Amino acid sequence: MKQSQRLQQIDRMVTRHYNHIFDCCCDHGFLGQALLQRNIADTVHFVDVVEPIMAELQDQLERLYGTGYPRNSWQVQCQDVAALSLPKDGSTLVIIAGVGGDLLIDLVTALVSAHPDRSLEFILCPVYHNYKVRQALRELSLSLIDEQLVHENRQSYEVLHLASSATDIEAEPISPVGKRMWDLSKTEHQQYLDRTIAHYERMSQRRESAVGSTSAEDIVAQYKALRLPRPLKPEKC
Ligand SMILES: C[S@@+](CC[C@H](N)C(=O)[O-])C[C@H]1O[C@@H](n2cnc3c(N)ncnc32)[C@H](O)[C@@H]1O
Repeated sequence: MKQSQRLQQIDRMVTRHYNHIFDCCCDHGFLGQALLQRNIADTVHFVDVVEPIMAELQDQLERLYGTGYPRNSWQVQCQDVAALSLPKDGSTLVIIAGVGGDLLIDLVTALVSAHPDRSLEFILCPVYHNYKVRQALRELSLSLIDEQLVHENRQSYEVLHLASSATDIEAEPISPVGKRMWDLSKTEHQQYLDRTIAHYERMSQRRESAVGSTSAEDIVAQYKALRLPRPLKPEKC
């Protein structure tokens, strides 16, 4: 099974064992299957709303993993992610990738609101609207464990690994424009930054309102500041 660069990157960002991993909006379940094969969760849950695809996935998983894998090592759930009931106990990672920014915000907001006391981790990879997504995730008090930029077919994708406020993992605030994912010595990173700035400059010229109360001009300034040299860390004595 040939995995996209984007899904391979998400797979690499799962670096520890969880009791439950939810591959949400899983479509054909390629990512969940890669995780299942790594034996990195007690149970990998495949969740999507499209019934025929989920029925096909159920058959495929039964054929491939029906014997030889523990009975509960995978589960197929055909339902809306927004209405998902997450397990009450155990470490839980929720992955949502390959959906638009607005839908992703709605799904994460619904899950966080329905499970206010649960320690949750998320790996999120929206298609477009990254600034808006990051702002919304900050408002949900999620914090950053890791972030990476991945490029595929002339598209760039931001992948965020986050913790809910109830998690005791060391995490930092989410930057609306990204921070540690950038490596501007790489051409692809520079090109992605240039495209993003050009997008908000066009919005600013059209005087379109940008994201909530933040103007397109402000967003341009925040992205441009990434090009400035970072202050050197003081040397330890
Ligand atoms: C483009 S696919 C993404 C597949 C895979 N996650 C990836 O990143 O390549 C988007 C999937 O999201 C599913 N989807 C959209 N809204 C959903 C929702 N509210 N709940 C569950 N699945 C949803 C669609 O059925 C579709 O299979």
